[in-house]
Amino acid sequence: MEKTWKQRCLPLLLLLSILSADTNHNNIIFLRQTAADGVTPEEATLLRDEVREMFYHAFNGYMEHAFPLDELKPLSCEGEDSLGGYALTLIDSLDMLALLGDRERFTSSVDWIGKNLRFDINKTVSVFETTIRVLGGLLSAHLIASDYATGMRIPSYDNQLLDLAEDLARRMLPAFDTPTGIPFGSVNLLYGVDEQESRITSTAGGGTLTLEFGMLSRLTNDPIFEQVTKNAVRGLWARRSKLNLVGAHINVFTGEWTQKDAGIGTSIDSFYEYLLKAYLLFGDEEYLFIFQEAYAAAMHYLYNDPWYVEVNMDSAAIVWPLFNSLQAFWPGLQVLAGDIDPAIRTHAAFFSVWKRYGFTPEGFNLATLTVQHGQKSYPLRPELIESTYWLYKATRDPRYLDVGRDMVVSLQYGARCPCGYCHIVDVEFHKKEDHMESFFLAETVSITFGSSIYGFFLIWLRVQITL
Ligand SMILES: *[C@@H]1O[C@H](CO)[C@@H](O)[C@H](O)[C@H]1NC(C)=O
Repeated sequence: MEKTWKQRCLPLLLLLSILSADTNHNNIIFLRQTAADGVTPEEATLLRDEVREMFYHAFNGYMEHAFPLDELKPLSCEGEDSLGGYALTLIDSLDMLALLGDRERFTSSVDWIGKNLRFDINKTVSVFETTIRVLGGLLSAHLIASDYATGMRIPSYDNQLLDLAEDLARRMLPAFDTPTGIPFGSVNLLYGVDEQESRITSTAGGGTLTLEFGMLSRLTNDPIFEQVTKNAVRGLWARRSKLNLVGAHINVFTGEWTQKDAGIGTSIDSFYEYLLKAYLLFGDEEYLFIFQEAYAAAMHYLYNDPWYVEVNMDSAAIVWPLFNSLQAFWPGLQVLAGDIDPAIRTHAAFFSVWKRYGFTPEGFNLATLTVQHGQKSYPLRPELIESTYWLYKATRDPRYLDVGRDMVVSLQYGARCPCGYCHIVDVEFHKKEDHMESFFLAETVSITFGSSIYGFFLIWLRVQITL
């Protein structure tokens, strides 16, 4: 309790120094350490340069054609405001600029954001998306810009990004004013929660806020941000079923589940992820205890080696024998939890789907072994790539480098567009759509490059996690 925020942030600071070191050396090692039949050291270096080029192709495309709008339309080379109209892709890319060692662009971007960004705007935004992309982007860039150890410290930096982050988070606080403590899905940044706002939210939407808000509390010495998000997690967990499973959608006023399909994919996924990561980041054992119970139940009722199914949260009856592409983060989470064997098998199964189509479809039917009707798209998601990264870090098995190469090749041949990278609407025909989510640069490319913003968790994993 008496720890200063510096001590509490130590893992993150450690991470940042590792990451900045990474920029110069470790990523090369990441790709060089293997001399298997697959990726050779020479090829690894080339691949790494290629990923850097991928980033700049899309980032420059965004800056030229879309900035300061939120996102790039990579086919028509135009911009669009998809979230709040606050240069979303730039905010989401800040830490990647630092990881690449691009001091000039990192500095000028931080500068521009500090001078131009405002959140006193009449926009109704998703609490979840705004937290993970904007609040997270501002906070990680703040930590990078204000610390010598990162190698990317900006001498003139004066906490502009932290001030913005705090302002933004305060504007989201009204969303948490519900009887269950579980927040509304959306909030207006100027007027609070809209009158006709839906009272139904997803488990992921209510339970994926603790890292950013918790970090903000430590940086501002104001406990409110951590309190409301922890309370939301407690609100969700208090309504778990007798089997320790949570559903997909819940009414934030009555606490009743309106969608009772339990699973590790869509609408729930990052609820599990943030439980473990919040424990790893803050050392708060309440998150670990919840994670351990939730994880054990998931492995008992949802795991159908090597796949995961969705079941009714009360009866455990299977409702969907479906691979859902968001599930692909799970093996990475298992690495962080120290449960490597099932992670290896599940990753191999998920990757077999990628191999078959060149991308993972949003849904793949495990009964028919075909793409699920209406779930044919691949919106440039990072999940499977992140799991590949973690498994490589944990096992040093060179076949994960080959997997990484396959993914880079898929993106280059299947998704590259004139000004960036395109959504794939149909993985069977590789049909492209004029859209590029900000997370493509923040996560998909960044992880392919061989870095992960959560890199520090691995150190902690080695020291203290055993389930
Ligand atoms: C806020 O935005 C909404 C939706 O665009 C609009 O209907 C409303 O009039 C705006 N309110 C004010 C005070 O500008």
